[in-house]
Amino acid sequence: MPAPADRIDALRARIRHHEERYYVHDDPEISDAEFDGLMRELRELEAGHPDLVTSDSPSQRVSGRPVEGFATAEHLLPMLSLDNAYDDGELSAFDERVRKGLAIDDPVRYVAELKIDGLSIAVTYDDGRFVRGVTRGDGVIGEDVSANVRAIQAIPLRLSKAPAGRLEIRGEIYFPRPAFARLNEEREASGEPLFANPRNAAAGTLRNLDPQLVARRGLRAFFYHAVAPPDVDPDPLPGSQIALLRTLATWGLPVEKHWQGCDGIAAVQAFCASWADTRRQLPFDTDGIVIKVDRREERARLGYTSKFPRWATAFKFPAQQVTTRLLRIDVQVGRTGAVTPLAVLEPVLLAGSTIQYATLHNDEEIRRKDIRPGDQVLLEKGGDVIPKIVKPILGVRPEGLPPFEMPTTCPECHSTLERPDDEVVWRCPNPSCPARLRRSLEHFAGRRAMNIDGLGQALVDKLVSLGLVHDYADLYHLTVETLADLKFDAQARRADRVAAGRTARADETSGPRVLTPRRFGEKSASALVAQIDASRRHDLWRLIFGLGIRHVGERGAQALADAFGTMAAVAAARVEQLTAVGDVGPVVAASLRRFFDAPESVALLARLEAAGLHMGRPVPESRAPGPLDGRTIVLTGTLQTLTREDATGQLLALGAKVAGSVSRKTSLVVAGEAAGSKLDKARTLGVPVVDEARLQQLLDDPTRFPVL
Ligand code: IVH
Repeated sequence: MPAPADRIDALRARIRHHEERYYVHDDPEISDAEFDGLMRELRELEAGHPDLVTSDSPSQRVSGRPVEGFATAEHLLPMLSLDNAYDDGELSAFDERVRKGLAIDDPVRYVAELKIDGLSIAVTYDDGRFVRGVTRGDGVIGEDVSANVRAIQAIPLRLSKAPAGRLEIRGEIYFPRPAFARLNEEREASGEPLFANPRNAAAGTLRNLDPQLVARRGLRAFFYHAVAPPDVDPDPLPGSQIALLRTLATWGLPVEKHWQGCDGIAAVQAFCASWADTRRQLPFDTDGIVIKVDRREERARLGYTSKFPRWATAFKFPAQQVTTRLLRIDVQVGRTGAVTPLAVLEPVLLAGSTIQYATLHNDEEIRRKDIRPGDQVLLEKGGDVIPKIVKPILGVRPEGLPPFEMPTTCPECHSTLERPDDEVVWRCPNPSCPARLRRSLEHFAGRRAMNIDGLGQALVDKLVSLGLVHDYADLYHLTVETLADLKFDAQARRADRVAAGRTARADETSGPRVLTPRRFGEKSASALVAQIDASRRHDLWRLIFGLGIRHVGERGAQALADAFGTMAAVAAARVEQLTAVGDVGPVVAASLRRFFDAPESVALLARLEAAGLHMGRPVPESRAPGPLDGRTIVLTGTLQTLTREDATGQLLALGAKVAGSVSRKTSLVVAGEAAGSKLDKARTLGVPVVDEARLQQLLDDPTRFPVL
């Protein structure tokens, strides 16, 4: 047996190596489960030997405590921004300035890099060890966001093979598009405001005071620049940008791989043109191409203006714009009562999809931009998912076109709309507004809440309009007879849904639709009633989430269910007890109290309970103790040798609890083929993960299973 110190060193080196394979080379050598095994072993050893813990250990990314605020820090050299070029002509003009400055006629060697649409960051390393991470700020002084930068797994805490001394490495922190989509879906589900684009989400995350949250969100980084203190001899940095990019990667830093060396500006122009459309296939947002003179010696001769380096420029891709007519402005009512204007447009093709709707956020925006129904408008799709109206084309506005008037009453229930002083959004205050009810029911039945398959928009609309359902509890009294006779168009899509962000597919929006209401029928009705019935026995967190309490997302609901065990206990918890739960902050706690204190909620919960919904832990049957008592196991992905039911049955028989979602309390995750978000979550929470072969070993002899 090696001494603990040696084993810890070896584990750290292996973990760093595998982080680099994953984040820098995009080419992992081991499975996530094996990686997690290494990390877990390291954490356990460090727990037993606290004196051996060092701050650059890969286990020490998140300190655990939220930070109080950010201090400021000065950059080694100012972080400048770049001059822009918007077309080939401006690129040629840049090239001429460069050649004039260098007094040469020959083609200049440039490097063209993708311009990452994120936030610039300067990360300082001393002798290859992470010291701090600072935002750009005003270019001279930035904010020290070290605790958050440390939490980003893609940024090494220790460089491999870096030169001795201090180095400031600069790059961009960004939100990968898939992680961004997931984040906004979660926020939509919990009634939180959405981030407009990945860049805003990255900014919001990096400025968050809780590094735990930063660690979970999956930010990434690319680096492209390095600064060494003046007068270091020998100069530690390579003589060209190309050599620098290669060197950064050998130090274990992630470098965006599509850069290209270009001899002369024509090659740069071709590179820019080649990315105009292809960039949309990248898993991150780019807003242009950065063109840099390759040789450092030439850069030094060119120098800087007061604002920009003379040796670089940013080519900006033209935003995708198109004009169309604004037919009318509808208003839509959301689950929380928020009333938002919706632009209904003459359908038009923009960046590959047919656009028929655009969100207008609020009436202030409409007034500020002076957008009027009937206007010809300029529509733009930038980095954002949702197209936006840039401005009306005033030159072609018909005379006497009246401005848009925000209604003062709810378009559905006619209650007078309210707007708190500190908000821009108008709300329908009526909790039983049919529009709010429809949206709430859709949320309740949603895949991530009560998962009632077959209860879609069109059916919800029908049930509400016929007065068959007034609240969630009414769903549990629907019968096959009532449902079978309903006539509606199951394919109908409401406009607001299409506008809510997910880019409309051409078939969803093109051309007028012929609605063909059809009888629901006995078969579908029985299937739906069975689905509704099954939802009675779902895990408690699904119900907590499904209730649609403001600010309570999936994760918050899971944490509450884990901590309190029963709905009654959650409902009775004081604010301090609620905030003691991880994932529950003061805003969430206040919102929970508001919900559970309202007499309507008390009545609703009583009706749900009477309808037979599972409201807490099942009463444990008395039985002999099993070897897996007290362990919670989550199965995810597809198992090859066992069915899910078999595996669950065998685990339950051994005393384990089998849960549907991963939390800090999970003892073990079994990952089959194509495991997805649960596996990601297990990784972020440091929960051990095993594959199916190991599950088999566990079932064969649970007493000899090392990770449990
Ligand atoms: S070079 C003096 N390279 O774009 C050198 N910048 O508009 C300055 N950016 O502040 C930066 N990708 O935040 C450089 N490959 C890249 C970049 C990049 C994104 C950002 C950076 C900079 C801004 C300038």
